[in-house]
Amino acid sequence: MKIINGMKVYVEPSYEEMSTLAARLVGAQIRLEPNSVLGLATGGTPVGMYKELVRMHKEEGLDFSKITTFNLDEYYPLSRESDQSYYYYMTDHLFSHVNINKDQIHIPNGEAKEVELECINYEKKIQKAGGIDLQVLGIGNNGHIGFNEPEESFAKRTHLVDLVEDTIQANSRFFDSIDDVPKQALSMGIGSIIKAKKIVLLANGSHKAKIIAETIYGDVRPQVPSTILQFHPDVTFVLDAEAAAELKKYIK
Ligand code: GLP
Repeated sequence: MKIINGMKVYVEPSYEEMSTLAARLVGAQIRLEPNSVLGLATGGTPVGMYKELVRMHKEEGLDFSKITTFNLDEYYPLSRESDQSYYYYMTDHLFSHVNINKDQIHIPNGEAKEVELECINYEKKIQKAGGIDLQVLGIGNNGHIGFNEPEESFAKRTHLVDLVEDTIQANSRFFDSIDDVPKQALSMGIGSIIKAKKIVLLANGSHKAKIIAETIYGDVRPQVPSTILQFHPDVTFVLDAEAAAELKKYIK
């Protein structure tokens, strides 16, 4: 582990080892504070971490019974039942395999009729739960965290986002065709994310190397939303060697 710009950076040899380490960090949080509030991410990257957390639950008794969760985002509009929804993803990869209390799970409602109200209520629920103790993040190729796309200013709270072409393209691999990818999403804001006490960001693969280097070393600006993490007091990057490749230029 190295401390770069005040942030902890772990570089693991493979995707599996990256996933195991990320699961250990989340598992440690759950063991130390069994009633933790976890912020959770979706996408291809954390699939291995969830698999390992499920194993830890089944084989090591990792107890989710007092855990509360808030997911970062959800496509809009999209039915929960759709197998592309993040609700479906979370059920499939984690919630249906562990002893989490279903009432303690929160995911923005991609079917909400009153979007503004849904966003306000989501923030209220996070506050009522006491804020997020540990937020897990992935990262988009353009530096989006949650679905906070590059903008002229950092989005503060949960809001409706217009997805940019690059994101629609990148996420089309999970859909039958690119036309099926929703053009909008509900996402926690950058303000909501950085209020978390701890943040763990996962990234793997050579296609993430450039954005990871920029996130850690680049100027902090809303056009690369992930750079805001440089201002957070407790961020841990868990990378595989490919995603860390561009950092070599900087690590002495
Ligand atoms: C989506 C999610 C993000 C995620 C990103 C990266 O856009 N909203 O939370 O971090 O994709 O996805 P992947 O892990 O598949 O590269």
